[in-house]
Amino acid sequence: MPDLKTKLAGINLENPLILASGFLGVSKASLEFVIKNGAGAVTIKSISRLPRSGHHAPIIAAFEAGLLNAVGYSNPGMIKAREEYADLKKLKAPVFLSAIGQKPGDFAKVVATLEKNDFAAVEIVLSCPHTPGYGTLAGQSTPAATAKITKAVRKVTRKPLFVKVSPDAPKLTEICKAAEAAGADGITAVNTMGPGMIIDLEARKPVLGFGMGGVSGAALHPIAVRCVYEISQAVKIPIIGTGGVTSGRDAIEMVMAGATGIGVGTAISTRGVACFHLIAKEMQDWMKENGVKSLEEIRGIAWKMSKKGS
Ligand SMILES: Cc1cc2nc3c(=O)[nH]c(=O)nc-3n(C[C@H](O)[C@H](O)[C@H](O)COP(=O)(O)O)c2cc1C
Repeated sequence: MPDLKTKLAGINLENPLILASGFLGVSKASLEFVIKNGAGAVTIKSISRLPRSGHHAPIIAAFEAGLLNAVGYSNPGMIKAREEYADLKKLKAPVFLSAIGQKPGDFAKVVATLEKNDFAAVEIVLSCPHTPGYGTLAGQSTPAATAKITKAVRKVTRKPLFVKVSPDAPKLTEICKAAEAAGADGITAVNTMGPGMIIDLEARKPVLGFGMGGVSGAALHPIAVRCVYEISQAVKIPIIGTGGVTSGRDAIEMVMAGATGIGVGTAISTRGVACFHLIAKEMQDWMKENGVKSLEEIRGIAWKMSKKGS
């Protein structure tokens, strides 16, 4: 079988599939469960300095092409997280911290507080489209804000640092270049897009408690692929391609766009947590059928081929 082993910003992964932040990764036990089901690495639910209760229910709605969510970053806060995520080295795959904040100092405080937990990497999220005070609604999706926040976090950790970006940011490649220049080791592309809205016809009002929410899943996939394709030509640091990856073919597409890691979230709602095993197997089947021995052979090939004009 073709080998899926991957090196991502110095971290060795059995396969490139990484649980995206916000799905199942709220307790250590749930992380173990996802790892057992074949994830090469897992990202925890985003953590803020103080506990947050998030938006009012309903917080998630499914539609034909994915999910609409406005969870609003409910999380127990960094002190409780420090206890919950103790002894992570005992888990059989690397665990990534996901940190959020309103100001650069908040991100740094969360990362510094959890520095001694055995997270293999740190992801800072500058891109949520539906939580006032955070992400795009707080102006964090600009090159200047990205540089400031990345620099603040770089000062408090030597771990591989990923910056998670929005598919809607007008200066996406500039944002990624700013992250790279400020010391980031990788880019996670992308967060949910929008916000979007679904209206309940009978109730005659938006379905979600917050009214609007981020779009994930199949609807996001071609946009995420385009973002990875553009970013991978603009920066040298590796990318975790995230957005609507549901099958092995979707994952291979991300690699062809230039991704090294592959984030998986919404697929869990359609294929179950076994999707990690299934996607990995489908990737290997495709590689075998197409005579591809390693992902390195096809990484970024879509834009390399386009440049050749073939
Ligand atoms: C219910 C839900 C909760 C999410 N929570 C977070 C979060 O806490 N932090 C974060 O960075 N991204 C969060 N995301 C975004 C995902 O990590 C991912 O970037 C996005 O859903 C696109 O990938 P997918 O199409 O595979 O789900 C959330 C997405 C959903 C649907």
